[in-house]
Amino acid sequence: MGKIIIAIDGFSSTGKSTLAKQIAKHLGYVYVDTGAMYRAVALYAMQNNYIGTDFFDKEKLINSLPSIRLHFVFNSELGFAEMYLNDVNVETKIRTLEVSSFVSAVAAISEVRSKLVEQQQEMGAAKGIVMDGRDIGTVVFPKAELKIFMTAGADTRAQRRFDELQAKGDLVSYEEVLKNVVERDYIDTHRDDSPLVIADDAVEIDNSYLDRKEQFDVVLELVNEAINTL
Ligand code: DC
Repeated sequence: MGKIIIAIDGFSSTGKSTLAKQIAKHLGYVYVDTGAMYRAVALYAMQNNYIGTDFFDKEKLINSLPSIRLHFVFNSELGFAEMYLNDVNVETKIRTLEVSSFVSAVAAISEVRSKLVEQQQEMGAAKGIVMDGRDIGTVVFPKAELKIFMTAGADTRAQRRFDELQAKGDLVSYEEVLKNVVERDYIDTHRDDSPLVIADDAVEIDNSYLDRKEQFDVVLELVNEAINTL
């Protein structure tokens, strides 16, 4: 059967990665979480003191880009690929609220974006891929056979992210998480380079009131249609 590219874009904490993982597993496709790549670059900037609460030395980060190597390694126990930054597994470190608070500023830098977009395009060259992010259907794979755009209210998304962080023992307040979600929405949709917009040919799914199974079923039908029209 022919393979397609499935692009899943949308706001933060809309459950893009949960859906993308389910679909990739079902189809035997590769899943790529592009947000993890931007998070790893943000972590690198934090570790090297290029970014902090009231400073960001963009030049230093841009000059360091050639020394930032990102790759994914599939973890069969977890069932997904973990993010490595310069050969170190950073999967846990990139998921903190601290990284979330710096990542949108890092993702707004054009030099960072072009480096990561190039790598993402290479990963999808053979198709059979589900990639999630903010610009997959618009910039990375404008010709993807299926584009999904996910939305949900900010409160619903903040509650989901809060529950995830709590479960991991990250002691944050719901208000902090909501503030971060709202701030990231703003930066992601207002940046000059590749802002988060819905592609003309994307299917929008508001999952505020859909559970995982319902959402999966809706998308699987779209996937089958896209594969059958190849
Ligand atoms: O999906 P996420 O929350 O892990 O993404 C982290 C940040 O990275 C998000 O605030 C926006 C940015 N991002 C992006 O600009 N482009 C992508 N393709 C993926 C993520």
